[in-house]
Amino acid sequence: MQSIEDIFRVDEPFVFTIFGASGDLAKLKIFPAIFALAEQKRFKKNYAIIGYARSKKTTEEFRAIFEQSVKKAYKKELNTYQEEVLSDLLKNVYYVSGQYDQLSDFQSYRKTIEDLKFQKPTEISYFSVPPSVFAPIVENLAGIRNENEMRLVLEKPFGTDEGSARELFHFIARFFDEEHIYLLDHYLGKKAVRSILPLRHVNRILNLMLKGREIANIQISAFEDFGVEDRIGYFDQSGTIKDMIQSHLLQILALVTMSIPIEKNAKNIQNEKSAILSALHFEPKKSNISLGQYDNYCSDHEACKLSKTETFVALKFFINRESWFQVPIFMRTGKNLHEKHTFLVIELKKFPFQKESDQPNRVIIELFPNEKIHIKLLDEDGVTSQNEEITTSDSLACTGDYCLPPHSLLFLDVIRGDKKHFVSFNEILASWNFVDKIVNFNVTEKIPVETYEVNSKGPASQNTITGKDGFKWYDLH
Ligand SMILES: NC(=O)c1ccc[n+]([C@@H]2O[C@H](COP(=O)([O-])OP(=O)(O)OC[C@H]3O[C@@H](n4cnc5c(N)ncnc54)[C@H](OP(=O)(O)O)[C@@H]3O)[C@@H](O)[C@H]2O)c1
Repeated sequence: MQSIEDIFRVDEPFVFTIFGASGDLAKLKIFPAIFALAEQKRFKKNYAIIGYARSKKTTEEFRAIFEQSVKKAYKKELNTYQEEVLSDLLKNVYYVSGQYDQLSDFQSYRKTIEDLKFQKPTEISYFSVPPSVFAPIVENLAGIRNENEMRLVLEKPFGTDEGSARELFHFIARFFDEEHIYLLDHYLGKKAVRSILPLRHVNRILNLMLKGREIANIQISAFEDFGVEDRIGYFDQSGTIKDMIQSHLLQILALVTMSIPIEKNAKNIQNEKSAILSALHFEPKKSNISLGQYDNYCSDHEACKLSKTETFVALKFFINRESWFQVPIFMRTGKNLHEKHTFLVIELKKFPFQKESDQPNRVIIELFPNEKIHIKLLDEDGVTSQNEEITTSDSLACTGDYCLPPHSLLFLDVIRGDKKHFVSFNEILASWNFVDKIVNFNVTEKIPVETYEVNSKGPASQNTITGKDGFKWYDLH
């Protein structure tokens, strides 16, 4: 936990603009995340939050929407201190109405920034719009650029396959160097995910165990206990492989298996993650993939009645690097399952004298909702476990980075120009390259999509993936 003195406060002037400020993401995540920073007094002075969208609104009306979103996110009444923080924050909130493809509207927006009379503010542009609108905003921001530092924050999805991601990055590169682009995967804002590298780095026990030659297999499981709900339009086009594997879970895998650079700057970390992601190898065989769809997936959505979109996937693949030679990676994720849980299981090899029925040693890293590491030790009669809790509570009374929600932490990173927890173009391209191979294999081979019951553990076929190598999925509950 950080001490008060360590807390990063923003002294330099900045303007944080949310393009698409009328949308769901802005209301559900971004406004509350900014409030969480204000609540910790991270912003000192000379800052502005600007909402930009096409809808006509006054700044006063926008402030009211901002206020409602924060109050809704906090669920209960704000206390007196929080009310004061919110009303101070709202004084720094502005609204600009404009089209995304009109340079003249961006020139008016430039004028709004100039009227603030800040000394060379850093200009942060958060793209909270559908990907189809990314290009005109990039082009128009380039059109109004001055000597101020500009940082562009783009939230996933980055394209729908490697080709479209490459096209997007080529387009952006015509106007901005990659150093100005912050590709945001909100999993990298989660405290537990951010602790993976430091934990590996400073704990010799973990460091020694997490070597390919010691490991029998790695399992990553991410269960959601809710369905696609109102995201059906997006989700039915995407499916779980693209939605969950492509960025979130591959990022976790990369953090667990990458070499740790001595100098842990953003470039070195991104390069090491990229090396892992480029080495992923899926052998195109039906026995390496299981797909499922929960019962009644499309019952309320006429348009997708015959949809074969997967809401569950389990995979086996390898990392083609000497250090991970022949260590199978098992990954599974699905919606509407029996629980919400994301965890990693690292199964160590057994000694030659151990029987097939003996349990292996396991390192279990629980990421959400609990943040814990368990090291499962064996005794003569069975399994004993030692549990170490590694992270802190989400209490509103706490003060350090560890109390902040993912988007707040990532915003702080952007404000301080730290890209360690953001994803590089190369990482995205490598991830898509891997995912495209799986998706294309599914298209040509038409892997059967097994229906599974809501609140169950998912399709039974997931077990053949691990079973044929003599392993079992490890379930925490
Ligand atoms: N919602 C989430 O939880 C979530 C999670 C992860 C990633 N994302 C990504 O974050 C981005 C924003 O999400 P969102 O749910 O807030 O999206 P959204 O509500 O569909 O769109 C945000 C705003 O963009 C503008 N917009 C929408 N469609 C447009 C179009 N065709 N042309 C021009 N402007 C358009 C609208 O503002 P105006 O019409 O007022 O200008 C809208 O209020 C998306 O790329 C989404 O994939 C969202």
